[in-house]
Amino acid sequence: MVDFGAQYAQLIARRVREAHVYSEIVPHTATAEELVARRPSGIILSGGPKSVNETPAPSIDPAIYDTGIPILGICYGAQLLTQQLGGEVSRTGRGEYGRTPLTVTARSPLFYDWPDDVEVWMSHGDAITTVPDGFVATASSPDAPVAALHHAERAIYGVQFHPEVAHTERGRDFLERFLYDVCRCPPSWTHTSIIESQVEAVRAQVGSSPVLCALSGGVDSAVAAALVHKAIGDQLTCVYVDTGLMRANESEQVEETFRRQFHIDLVHIKAADRFFEALAGITDPEAKRKIIGELFIRIFEEVARDLVVEEPEGSAAAGAEVSDATAGPSGYLVQGTLYPDVIESGSDSAATIKSHHNVGGLPDDLAFDLVEPLRLLFKDEVRAVGEELGLPHEIVWRQPFPGPGLAVRIVGEVTPERAEILRGADAIVVEEVRRAGLYRDLWQSFAVLPAVRTVGVMGDGRTYAYPIVIRAVTSDDAMTADWARLPYDLLERLSSRIINEVEGVNRVALDITSKPPGTIEWE
Ligand code: XMP
Repeated sequence: MVDFGAQYAQLIARRVREAHVYSEIVPHTATAEELVARRPSGIILSGGPKSVNETPAPSIDPAIYDTGIPILGICYGAQLLTQQLGGEVSRTGRGEYGRTPLTVTARSPLFYDWPDDVEVWMSHGDAITTVPDGFVATASSPDAPVAALHHAERAIYGVQFHPEVAHTERGRDFLERFLYDVCRCPPSWTHTSIIESQVEAVRAQVGSSPVLCALSGGVDSAVAAALVHKAIGDQLTCVYVDTGLMRANESEQVEETFRRQFHIDLVHIKAADRFFEALAGITDPEAKRKIIGELFIRIFEEVARDLVVEEPEGSAAAGAEVSDATAGPSGYLVQGTLYPDVIESGSDSAATIKSHHNVGGLPDDLAFDLVEPLRLLFKDEVRAVGEELGLPHEIVWRQPFPGPGLAVRIVGEVTPERAEILRGADAIVVEEVRRAGLYRDLWQSFAVLPAVRTVGVMGDGRTYAYPIVIRAVTSDDAMTADWARLPYDLLERLSSRIINEVEGVNRVALDITSKPPGTIEWE
């Protein structure tokens, strides 16, 4: 899938994978040679915010049209291939946005069995007005005289509508026709095949070396750990660092799952004091992230060193490590990096909004090689893999939690007292949201502790205490999010319970900012 900056780029890739065909996203600046080197069975050109008639407009190496690889252009992608192959794209007038009736005007292998009229989702200002030589127009809509076109012998297809959007009736069927019939891809990308291939990849990468994994209590690190454990068994040591910035009961749950249920070697480090000490007096959000990331890694290096010392003599792993001991600990570290992180950090146009990483910002002098068994996966795939590996629902369906923990939800200085206030409020939010049956519908729901205090009255006395802000969002992938319309009775329960049960709080507010312009976390 070639990305032209589409709002729906990730969605297209996910829809393809839902059809059990592996897909990855590449920037439009890739040359035809680079694309061919990836040996794709088909290429999808995504939509994009620009007009092909602007200069400069994002383009693609036209040599791809001569490779014989089947191509499907969607929206901007269709207009681009039209223009590059000699057709015409013009601004016809109104454009079409949202649900639009489509009339099938000729047979297409991608919708040969559709009725003459179907509803599709459109979002375009320009329209294709003349098809390139050898192409046929196969559908139209009120403001797109050519809403679909193709050149069957060359296996080049274009559609103005968005088959990846749920509002396009039969969109899934459309993509499947392209994938199965035109590209001849077998539907073989399944959760079992993902596990098998990653198990092999991990074994090949680490050989007989010891591997460490940081468990955070979150879904990603848990699934990554379970997957690596399946691959290499006891070569894996999991480390759970209690930073003092975890959610309520997190430590117990991690122990229970990994030590008791999976019998995974788990080292539990209680390091809250060190984190609070390092964070004392620090209020800048990025500085907090960096400090946490750095300390995390240092603790890891210490654990790695200790493990090496304890390793029985003569073991291959111990030998390899000890010979390297002067250079500090080396070895492998498992990270639960996901595909959206890879795309986000790999893109040259995306600005760094926050230094994202599962353990905060990793220092540059990292003494580990990373093992990232989830780096090709989207969150929903990670969850499915987690279920397949037998992880408990509680963990698999946990809402995402940032690596730096509660610190990024404590605006201003992070102290043990303030962390305790937030942990108490957060536990109430989670409990009540679960009780209301909304936990799985929400991408995230949590409490935030601002750095202001406000006046209140409780009993007969004046109070001067912190407010708690409730943040609840719906989202598909965390790239964009909308604030959740929580029911009033839930909000009422949250407000009264938090104020009554959490000492140091006298007010509850609700964050009604979507992303963009806000981010999900406050820091
Ligand atoms: P923002 O706040 O940027 O967050 O809208 C998007 C998603 O990423 C999570 N997040 C993090 N995850 N390490 C992580 O592993 C981090 O440093 C980090 N910061 C934010 C956030 O919870 C949301 O799901």
